[in-house]
Amino acid sequence: MDLVKVTCTDGIAWMEIHRPKAMNALTQAVLTELEVEIASLAADLADLRVVVLTGAGEKAFVAGADIREMATMTPAEAAAFSALGHRVLGALEALPVPVIAAVNGFALGGGCELALACDLVYAAENARFGQPEVKLGLIPGFGGTQRLARRIGPMRALDLVVTGRMVGAAEARSLGLCLDVFPADELKSRVQTIAEGIAAMGPVAVRAAKATQARGLDGPLATGNALERDAFALLFATSDAREGMAAFTEKRDPVFQGR
Ligand code: CAA
Repeated sequence: MDLVKVTCTDGIAWMEIHRPKAMNALTQAVLTELEVEIASLAADLADLRVVVLTGAGEKAFVAGADIREMATMTPAEAAAFSALGHRVLGALEALPVPVIAAVNGFALGGGCELALACDLVYAAENARFGQPEVKLGLIPGFGGTQRLARRIGPMRALDLVVTGRMVGAAEARSLGLCLDVFPADELKSRVQTIAEGIAAMGPVAVRAAKATQARGLDGPLATGNALERDAFALLFATSDAREGMAAFTEKRDPVFQGR
């Protein structure tokens, strides 16, 4: 155990994949531990505001699925491995609070896919993204043929998937793979500040925003707009919305209770 380290302060949970000697590559054990930690966050949501995912060390966020472990897998074992990866990334994506990836180095293969399962991605200047599976005679197995196209568009996504090329942080930003790029030694503090900013907003509203966007994107625009109308109206039943609007008119900072 201890392949994933979690610390939670003031509603901001930092999850660190901790296998620095292997560039934080995802073994079945890492994925299983990640699944347990995500489930434990999901079971105790009352005070949770933001989750941040990062990798241990200065070189890698996650350099992919563990190639040594995959090298001897049968097709049936590979199917189970892929299913495990999909389940874990799906659970991460389904957390009701915003999940931020702080990409502190290589985010390749399963590592890039992990970042794609996060709502917001910030990168260090030394970050490198890519889906190099074709170099191994494989394709992405944790959602890279699906989430990448949805995030950056099918043509840009297929370019990365069929060439296997790595892109640096600046190109990643221009592609829409990350929102912003920070000096490596500032990444954690800059992401912490962003997380604190989100944590200071109306917590029910932040969750409603994430859920409404995600549900809406699954269907036609008219359905999404109807979901938004209902969620918007429901927020008027929360004391946070009353407090937020009262604080504005009274020219003071709101004090949100999360209800
Ligand atoms: N799996 C297993 N071990 C890995 C790994 C991976 N994905 N990536 C790095 N490592 C290990 C290396 O084997 C090495 O271990 P040893 O010291 O025991 O030899 C250690 O991490 C350091 O790596 P390098 O010496 O290679 O470091 P580098 O700076 O020269 O290169 C790198 C860094 C460019 C990330 C290079 O390690 C690399 O190309 N890694 C593989 C990246 C990759 O192909 N990822 C996709 C995996 S497939 C996948 O993810 C499928 C999927 O979608 C589910």
